[in-house]
Amino acid sequence: MADGWSRAQRRLHWTTAWLVAAGFALGWIMVAVPLRDLLTKFLLFQLHKTIGLIVLAFALWRLAMRARRGRPATDADLTGRERRAAAAGHAALYALLLIVPALGYLTASTAPAGVPTLFLGVIPIPGIVGPNPAWYAVLRVVHRWAAVALVALAAGHALAALRHHRRGRAVLLRMWRG
Ligand code: HEM
Ligand code: HEM
Repeated sequence: MADGWSRAQRRLHWTTAWLVAAGFALGWIMVAVPLRDLLTKFLLFQLHKTIGLIVLAFALWRLAMRARRGRPATDADLTGRERRAAAAGHAALYALLLIVPALGYLTASTAPAGVPTLFLGVIPIPGIVGPNPAWYAVLRVVHRWAAVALVALAAGHALAALRHHRRGRAVLLRMWRG
């Protein structure tokens, strides 16, 4: 059991939160941009995909760090039910941080348009599967709803953190400043 969240764990947590918010907003914006603004649409898609792949890499990094270093003990004031709810919520958040980008990657790979995925706008990321309209039709919807579930769960998680903070518990402060 670690003493507190390390600086790296805290930085990754907050950077991920910003990246998920930005990637989610960009997702809706980029699909709404008309095809006549092709360059803007292309650039927004590349930015969206780059952000999503960074979220995936950060989630794997966080899980590796957590396995090596652990996490601080849950606040002693929490009831057994609160503790179980927090653990289940965190597990679901980690799962969605992996699942949403993985589904996005599969959506991009199966898209009939066959637009390449360029990480940071320059590094080509090969698709493990080729264009497939039937799979794309399913994957894009599943990717969209998994992203909605991630953001909804993260919002509930943030509200829970703020509620603990208002009750004078150090949960939020130790994730903020260590
Ligand atoms: C945290 C990570 C991510 C979030 C929150 C996210 C969220 C979203 C959202 C909200 C949309 C718009 C939904 C729609 O109307 O289709 C979308 C679309 C899309 N995303 Fe992501 N995404 C993430 C990661 C990725 C990654 C890593 C890739 C690919 C490498 C990707 C590829 C796509 C593609 C290709 C679409 C357009 C699908 C279509 O044609 O409708 N996403 N994403
Ligand atoms: C997309 C946004 C977010 C995601 C994906 C996310 C994800 C997570 C995950 C997976 C953990 C568990 C860490 C672990 O046990 O290794 C965690 C912890 C935490 N998060 Fe978030 N989070 C997000 C946004 C926020 C926001 C906006 C707040 C506060 C307003 C917040 C406050 C906290 C706090 C205080 C902890 C530590 C909980 C504890 O000590 O048990 N998070 N977060």
